[in-house]
Amino acid sequence: MKKLLVTAMAVLLAASALADEVAVAPTVLPDGLPPLGETWRSENPYRGNPEAVAIGQKAYSQACARCHGADASTNAAPAPDLRNLNRFCRRISDAELNAACMRDNDAYFAKTVRNGKVIVGVTHMPPWQGVLKQELAWAIQTFIESRKTGRE
Ligand code: HEC
Repeated sequence: MKKLLVTAMAVLLAASALADEVAVAPTVLPDGLPPLGETWRSENPYRGNPEAVAIGQKAYSQACARCHGADASTNAAPAPDLRNLNRFCRRISDAELNAACMRDNDAYFAKTVRNGKVIVGVTHMPPWQGVLKQELAWAIQTFIESRKTGRE
């Protein structure tokens, strides 16, 4: 009986730990942004688009803020400060090199968001593939890029 109880508790604990790491789709819709279809782009097609910033801010608050910090304005959250993602690119003034750096940055962003971060079987971030529409993913990135860190 005791063993059963312990097993049941272990299952419950494991289930609640997993539940914390489930990707929940934001309810905001990418209305007004050019639709992108199913095939993921390799580059952000919305960069600098103010509408994408507004939609991305809402989607970020619903889907990413609980781990990455409210409004992408703090690095006190457990997960990394996403404003630092393109930090190295921002330092490159040569236009061509900068564009190449941003392409790499976009590829990394898309890959990470789609696959999540599962390290030795532990889900640090759940995969968003099939949960988050790519329109919203790129809008979120556009929003994050609109938030400057102030420390370049
Ligand atoms: C359950 C918590 C959680 C949620 C929700 C979450 N993340 Fe993460 N994310 C993490 C953690 C933890 C890491 C760091 C993983 C590691 O490197 O070990 C991370 C890493 C990342 C990285 C890579 C950062 C880097 O510096 O390499 C990106 C990009 C990212 N997350 C984007 C997002 C986006 C976009 C959302 C919302 C759609 C999101 N995350 C939602 C926990 C989360």
